[in-house]
Formats: sequence, C-alpha cells, structure tokens
Amino acid sequence: MEDKNTLGKKIGNVSITVLIGISLLTFIVGFATGKFYMQNQSSTPVSRLVDSETKTEVEQKTTEEITTESITEEETTVATSKKKKKKRKLVALTFDDGPGRYTMELLDILEKNHAKATFFVCGTSLERNDAKKILKRMDSLQCDIGNHTVNHISLPKASAKKIKKEIEGVDKKVKKLTGHKTKFLRPPYGAGAKSKKLKKNVKRPMICWNVDTLDWKTKSKKKTIAKATKSIHDGDIILMHDIHPWTVKAVKKIIPKLRKQGFEFVTVSELAKYKKVKLKKGKAYYEFD
Ligand code: NI
Repeated sequence: MEDKNTLGKKIGNVSITVLIGISLLTFIVGFATGKFYMQNQSSTPVSRLVDSETKTEVEQKTTEEITTESITEEETTVATSKKKKKKRKLVALTFDDGPGRYTMELLDILEKNHAKATFFVCGTSLERNDAKKILKRMDSLQCDIGNHTVNHISLPKASAKKIKKEIEGVDKKVKKLTGHKTKFLRPPYGAGAKSKKLKKNVKRPMICWNVDTLDWKTKSKKKTIAKATKSIHDGDIILMHDIHPWTVKAVKKIIPKLRKQGFEFVTVSELAKYKKVKLKKGKAYYEFD
C-alpha cells in the first residue's frame, strides 16, 4: 500500500510538475509574444514612415514659410528703400521783418550750407543803404522774396485802400531793387489771413507758418534752435526773423541739425511745387503736407 501510495504520489508530483511546466511555458511564450507585439506596435515601419513623412512635411512647410518670409522681407526692404528714395523731407525756413544788419551774415550761412530760404521783407527795412545788395544776393542764392507790408501793420484793421497801399508799396520797392515783384504776402502777425476781408483785398497767396520759433520773444539762440529742430515734419514752414543776431547764430546750428534728420531746405514756392499745390490768390497757407 505504501508502495502504491508512493507511486501514486510520484505520478501526482510529475503531473503537477508538467502542469506547472506547461503553464510556465505558456506564460513565457505569451509574455514574449506580447512583448514582441508591443515592440512592433511602437516602431512599425509604417508608423515610422508616417512620422518621417509628417516631419518632412512640417520641415518643408517651415522651409517654404521661411523662404516666403525672406522674399517678402526682401521685397519690403526694396519697396521701403524705393519709398525712402522718393519721399523727400522738405522744410521751408522763413525770415520776416528784414532785411536787417545781420541778413548778409545769414545769407553767407545759407550759401555755405547750400540751403535756400524765404524772406518776407518790410518796406521800412528796405530803406537801408545796402538793401539792393542784400536783395540781389537773395536772388543769386535762389531764395524767395515775399511781401510783409511797408509798415508792418495789422491788415484786418486797415481799410481796403490802406491794405493795397501797404502791399503795393513793398512791391514797388522790390521791383526797383531787383527787377521783379514779390511772390506772395505774409500778413504781419499772421493777422486775418483767413478773413473774408483779406481774401478779398489781398490779391495774392498768403503764406503763414506752422512752426513758430518765438525768436523775437525768447531772444535766445538756444531756444530758437530747440523750437526749429524739435518735432519738425516734412512740409513745415518755420518762422524766424533775420533782424535778430541770436536768430542768425541759431540758423548756423539749425541747418546741420535738420539736415541730420534728413531735411532739405527749399523756398516756399519750391515747397508748394513739390507738394503739387497751386498757390491761389487770397488763400492762406500754413504748411504743405
Ligand atoms: Ni513780422
């Protein structure tokens, strides 16, 4: 019995061992297959291809975009440089109440700097002995000569007859000294430039200003320079007076400072021409933009 039992036990043990063996084998095979499948899932050639295709596509797109961007940038640069070439920054320096004892010095500065300006002369100032010499010099430097009335009066308060006399008086004198009349009028103080009275009685364009240096008030070279060089725009008309020594000294600095900012110095008539503005009689102009 003992032997039989032993045999039975042995058979039982073998069966268990075989079973365990089979189970183990199944598990190992199953595990290995699973692992293999998993590995293939994550790195199949197809998924790699899709991946690489997508990458390439993205890469291509990026390259295309960059190329397009750089072309656009290049085109923009070319366009901007063309625009820059076309777009000139012009400014008109204007001087009132002269000619005076410093006007010749101012004309020297203009000539040295190859700059032009516009002078609005007064009849009383034209009484100077050197008036002819000064005005001829203005002409030779291609500056504009404008009218600022004989006695520097406020025109809206004057009668029509007086307005006419004040304007024509200057024209006669300028014509006598230079052989030509003045091109336009600057009403003293800019007074009434837009009024119906002046529109009717001033039979020529009226040139005012949009940048007032207040040189007559500050009596300061430094402040005049600051006013004439800060926030200046293309088409501006700057008001100064050539009868003040500090103004003439200021111009020496104003011209190179504005030139550094890219400005060219033109006369009022040139400025109007460049801006394609046909000056009309009786109309007031403050700037040309
Ligand atoms: Ni004046």
